[in-house]
Amino acid sequence: MISLNGKRILLLVSGGIAAYKSPDVVRRLRDAGAEVRVIMTPSATEFITPLTLQAVSGHAVRCDLFDPTAEAAMGHIELARWGDAVVTAPATADFLARLRLGQANDLATAVCLVSAAPVLVAPAMNQQMWQHPATAENLAALTARGVIICGPGSGSQACGEVGPGRMAEADEIVSAVARIFATGRLAGRRVLITAGPTREPIDPVRYISNHSSGKMGYALAIAAHEAGALVTLVSGPTVQTKPEGVTVKSVETAAEMYSAVMQELETTEIFVGTAAVADYRPEFASAGKIKRDGSALELRLVPNRDILAAVAASANAPFTVGFAAETDNLIANAESKLQRKKLDMIAANLVGGHEIGFNSDDNELTVLWPGSSKVLERAPKLRLARSLLEVIVERFESRNSGSN
Ligand code: PMT
Repeated sequence: MISLNGKRILLLVSGGIAAYKSPDVVRRLRDAGAEVRVIMTPSATEFITPLTLQAVSGHAVRCDLFDPTAEAAMGHIELARWGDAVVTAPATADFLARLRLGQANDLATAVCLVSAAPVLVAPAMNQQMWQHPATAENLAALTARGVIICGPGSGSQACGEVGPGRMAEADEIVSAVARIFATGRLAGRRVLITAGPTREPIDPVRYISNHSSGKMGYALAIAAHEAGALVTLVSGPTVQTKPEGVTVKSVETAAEMYSAVMQELETTEIFVGTAAVADYRPEFASAGKIKRDGSALELRLVPNRDILAAVAASANAPFTVGFAAETDNLIANAESKLQRKKLDMIAANLVGGHEIGFNSDDNELTVLWPGSSKVLERAPKLRLARSLLEVIVERFESRNSGSN
């Protein structure tokens, strides 16, 4: 259960159709124990009335920078100082542009300039606006300034188009706000994890894949979330339940997993490659179902890009942790992957049996990093994930402090 007990949240609502979801955000923040004061931009009032947000927040809603009555009570400076966090949901493209420029031409942006509290935005806009280079630049600048971006999701939009730009769900926003105040060892750190198998199409109904269930990767995402991290999980097809508070990006193929990982890389501080990525894919996927004609069929396979090695070789690479799934020579093969892929750490597990490894509830790991190693005895995957994360955090912290 997420707790925001005693936290004071300033919720800014800017003018987009997703403003109709803002009352739910207020309600869930309050359910988690937060006190919420709402500021609306003038254009937000075109989509939803201040009265609605007043009713759900229990406080008068401010819309006007120059409201003499309101300024006589809690003025905009006091209001900005009051908030332990400033959350904008929805944040329109225009709002993000003004935030980036440091404008103060309405109460919401003025408060952002005055406040020293962490700022979180939940963007919501048409998918073309979201993908426009101007918005991407604004986002990059805001992220570099420490603004936390929550979402957006992808799907059908109010304008009838389909794509990225849907405001994150209220519970995701509340989880992201809770992360701001988390006190675990990874509080506020951005962790990217891959999980599950990939599927490489042969034709529209057949694919090449493997036995990964996603259990290990999902367990790591839960453990990282518990430790206070902002976790993104890039997941191949699995039946695992989405972990609470974790952003999940679903993919099918190794190429899609590669793109999803690269999109997240710039802000990632720790990367863990738990996914069983297919090393090869059919060179050509048939557009129609391949018919059986009794003769032999040859499939030519071509290699997929190595996501883990690409992450480790990237500029400003995160602390990069790989997994090694081996049927023999566990340590020697893992050691060779650690060196060849230039990783900070690798977790080696034996696969091929039924008790540990693929699709089992338990696992056993030997964790190797340059100069040392540690055995994590057989345990349920969540318990093991917590232990592995402790080892990762220790090495990550010692790398950051400059000691080895
Ligand atoms: O999902 P479960 O059923 O819980 O099973 C867990 C697991 C056995 C899948 C997991 O513990 C595990 O071992 N994951 C790695 C599987 C694997 O692909 O190992 P590998 O030795 O082939 O690859 C080494 C590393 O390179 C892995 O971190 C892998 O994610 C990465 N890789 C591999 C190929 C590729 N094209 N890109 C990659 O990033």
